[in-house]
Amino acid sequence: MKKLSLAILLLLTPVLAQAWPWSQDMANQISTKPQESPDPANPGMTSFPARSVPVPGTMVNVKDAVAAEKLKNPVPADEKSIAKGGQLFAIYCVPCHGKLGKGDGYVGQKFIVQPNDLTAEGTRKQTDGYIWGHITFGGPIMPIYGNDMNPTERWHVVNYVRNVVQKAQPFAPEAKK
Ligand code: HEC
Repeated sequence: MKKLSLAILLLLTPVLAQAWPWSQDMANQISTKPQESPDPANPGMTSFPARSVPVPGTMVNVKDAVAAEKLKNPVPADEKSIAKGGQLFAIYCVPCHGKLGKGDGYVGQKFIVQPNDLTAEGTRKQTDGYIWGHITFGGPIMPIYGNDMNPTERWHVVNYVRNVVQKAQPFAPEAKK
């Protein structure tokens, strides 16, 4: 009996010591690893292909709306940005905030707590980061739109709110390319 259990124990022991830890066998094979030079004469890490690393990207890792308030708007409010923001505003904001941002959109009217009038002094006084944060994280009632637009697109919307909605210019969703 003792001999038998010893034999079983031996069978179960991972005797192939070189293979230990066996869970990494697949990784530790002769193959080119990510970012490793494929040229044996020039070992080491290869440089990243152009445009594969988003170095000058916009700020994305913001914890919450409070942290977003302090963000500086990195997107210049030029004609192109405002036009793009206008298109996105028409899609994502008009249903609740209305064409002129007065908070009187058809969907918004059904709310018990009405959407804000974005042209009101209270919202005018807020920072660009506050509006960006409200789009990104939503409000107590307003849904989150951070997943529908990338960070730069959200700044375009901010630029549109600032330069068209809050300056009470006529609504212009047609973007100039
Ligand atoms: C489904 C309806 C709905 C949509 C769509 C919507 N909002 Fe709102 N929004 C609200 C409501 C309701 C409030 C007030 C309560 C709250 O903050 O949640 C609000 C509040 C805000 C505020 C806060 C204003 C302040 O002074 O505190 C901002 C800024 C804002 N919305 C911007 C936007 C922008 C920009 C879009 C488009 C990307 C948008 N909202 C889309 C319903 C909506």
